[in-house]
Amino acid sequence: MATHFFTASSLDGFIATADHSLDWLLKQDFDAEGPMAYPAFEKTIGALAMGASTYEWVMRHEEGRWGYTQPTWVFTHRALEAPEGADIRFTREDIATVHAEMTEAAQGRDLWVVGGGDLAGQFADAGLLDEVWVQYAPVTLGAGAPLLPRALDLELLDVARNRNFLCGRYRVVGRL
Ligand SMILES: NC(=O)c1ccc[n+]([C@@H]2O[C@H](COP(=O)([O-])OP(=O)(O)OC[C@H]3O[C@@H](n4cnc5c(N)ncnc54)[C@H](OP(=O)(O)O)[C@@H]3O)[C@@H](O)[C@H]2O)c1
Repeated sequence: MATHFFTASSLDGFIATADHSLDWLLKQDFDAEGPMAYPAFEKTIGALAMGASTYEWVMRHEEGRWGYTQPTWVFTHRALEAPEGADIRFTREDIATVHAEMTEAAQGRDLWVVGGGDLAGQFADAGLLDEVWVQYAPVTLGAGAPLLPRALDLELLDVARNRNFLCGRYRVVGRL
């Protein structure tokens, strides 16, 4: 069982613009059946974690519908509302506690830290992030939400091209 941060990024290391737009990403061509694409990855996942901004983006983008079937932990200090029928827990517990709850719920499948980058960093700080998967889109944003604002040593495990994307899969070795 492994914990992954799987995300798309601009070439200069931002996963969203400063105003949380992903328009630069959604216009890109990619093959959903191709290498390192999201659908095959998602099948390996038994539980999700995300920060409040990412949750709010999903809710805006999907117009209130929740597409994930796996149990999901949303980190927030606020009282957010979940859509009807969604398997969502809002939490401000420490990372190790949530990771243990996710592991139990995932029943042997892997865990996915959806984002943002600092939340993935918090999992790494706790020694609970195993892999980083990044699909680099052919754009630079200059500023925005950072990919992974930590100093980490990574081992490159795999690379692929998926149409417009340069895809890399890395193992987290430890602090740099
Ligand atoms: N490119 C991609 O594939 C991709 C992937 C994922 C996300 N994104 C986008 O990237 C952006 C990320 O936004 P972001 O950098 O603001 O990160 P985020 O992790 O989505 O949200 C940050 C918020 O999460 C809450 N939070 C984080 N850690 C917490 C903790 N330990 N305990 C309690 N609450 C905690 C806080 O919310 P409160 O203020 O509610 O306390 C914090 O302000 C979003 O726009 C998202 O849509 C892009």
